[in-house]
Amino acid sequence: MAKDKTLEDLFYDTLQDIYFAERQILKALPKMARAAQSSELKAGFEKHREETEGQVERLQQIFELMGKRAKGKTCEAIQGIIAEGEEIIEEFKGTPALDAGLISSAQAVEHYEMARYGTLKTWAQTLGLKDAVSLLDQTLQQETNTDKTLTKLAMTAANQKAAA
Ligand SMILES: [Fe+2]
Repeated sequence: MAKDKTLEDLFYDTLQDIYFAERQILKALPKMARAAQSSELKAGFEKHREETEGQVERLQQIFELMGKRAKGKTCEAIQGIIAEGEEIIEEFKGTPALDAGLISSAQAVEHYEMARYGTLKTWAQTLGLKDAVSLLDQTLQQETNTDKTLTKLAMTAANQKAAA
């Protein structure tokens, strides 16, 4: 067993995981926006797609700060979460439950990201990567706000519509 791996290696590894994940999410969001029935939910997905472009750029900045090449590492977790979302689109297409299902998928994505960014921010603090802390925090705030918006859309309309 290698004894020379450190927190910086873990940080770099996890950065590659979320970099891969963000680029998958960037591809999935337009599909979710197209599938959404309510105009508010469509707009929410479109807004978050734009934010995600900025999040990818922030990650590239962090790779650069570390003097490392920006590269992704296959993240099976996000592939699974996105595949479940696609399943919901197929199975609930044309039904009143679709938007509630889309919101649930999107929240699974956001929570995965919040877990990753929360950890990365804490590690960046320990590693003394001040600029990275601030970049990671900006993205973490966006993910948290997106999650809150999704909860609001679920509670104000989508869930009732699905239950009717
Ligand atoms: Fe993101």
